[in-house]
Amino acid sequence: MKLKIRSPANIAFIKYWGQKDGCLILPMNDSFSMNLSNCFSTVEIETQNDFNTKQLYIKKYQSDNYEVADQTSLKKVIDYYQVAKKFLKTNQDFGFIIKSANSFPKKAGIASSASFFSALAMLYSRLFEKELNQKELSILARLSGSGSACRSIPDGFSWWKKGRDSSSSYAVSIAPPSYWDLNDLVLILNSGEKKVSSQEGHQKAKTSGLYKERLRGLKKRLVDIKKAFEKKDFTWFGYLIEEEAISMHSVMMTQKPPLYFWSERTIDIIKKIIGGRSQGLEMYFTIDAGENIHLICQGKNKEKIYQYFSKEKNILNIISNQAAIGTRDYE
Ligand code: DP6
Repeated sequence: MKLKIRSPANIAFIKYWGQKDGCLILPMNDSFSMNLSNCFSTVEIETQNDFNTKQLYIKKYQSDNYEVADQTSLKKVIDYYQVAKKFLKTNQDFGFIIKSANSFPKKAGIASSASFFSALAMLYSRLFEKELNQKELSILARLSGSGSACRSIPDGFSWWKKGRDSSSSYAVSIAPPSYWDLNDLVLILNSGEKKVSSQEGHQKAKTSGLYKERLRGLKKRLVDIKKAFEKKDFTWFGYLIEEEAISMHSVMMTQKPPLYFWSERTIDIIKKIIGGRSQGLEMYFTIDAGENIHLICQGKNKEKIYQYFSKEKNILNIISNQAAIGTRDYE
């Protein structure tokens, strides 16, 4: 049996940072994201006759060949296979070879694990021939450990409801990709791998003196961003996503041990984004767990913004994304 799935990464406008339950991957707050049209993983699984065969190959960004994955990545895939079997209530077993290719740099603050594990959730459910609805698939993706994977399952703009327990914590689409012509220009400042996994980071979020304040502030920000989104008020929306990114990174920088993802280059580009606004180029930033910047703009301004950054020496590459559909069979 051979199955192939394609799944997008997503950029969170309201972030998931900190957990109520680290085993069940239950977040402390709702989060809200957009699937990315040009940042995706294509993952295939081929079953093997020998049950003991469990292999993982990864094709790195801009590489032509698949390479054997490291042991840590393979272990995650095998552990998740066991989690999926439990969730799918099956005792069946398979030997398998998994091959994964990313259209973007891995672990650079673009959620590569979200696109990979959401694809894997669908692959495992197909492998065991279990028909899951979107809610169940989103829950299964969340249980991978890379919680934000649950937001890559539905189409377009996803809202992850924190829920009370495992069966009520999943993502739903609040608008299709065509709803709003938002663009995410991922400004790649460094395509190297980050050192700390988000999972470790989530567990320490509560050690930040700012965390309680963040959760308090989020109550209003979650209401406001929904309103700004419904009204398609880009200016309001933009200020909210910047405030949100700063709020999450302030927690990261003050948790113990602290996490600093930004570099001098990040700060430099943030200033240029703000500077560009004062020249009439409306654009805003958000940043995940890495130094790269997600520049959010409307389609009508994209070309001018490209021009504005064209001579910027710190930007190695720009990946231009629109809102995209969620996890699907590869065609
Ligand atoms: C900062 O635990 O889902 O991106 O396993 O690295 O994909 P990965 O991360 P996960 O945490 C995501 C943290 C975040 C914010 C967000 O996407 O909401």
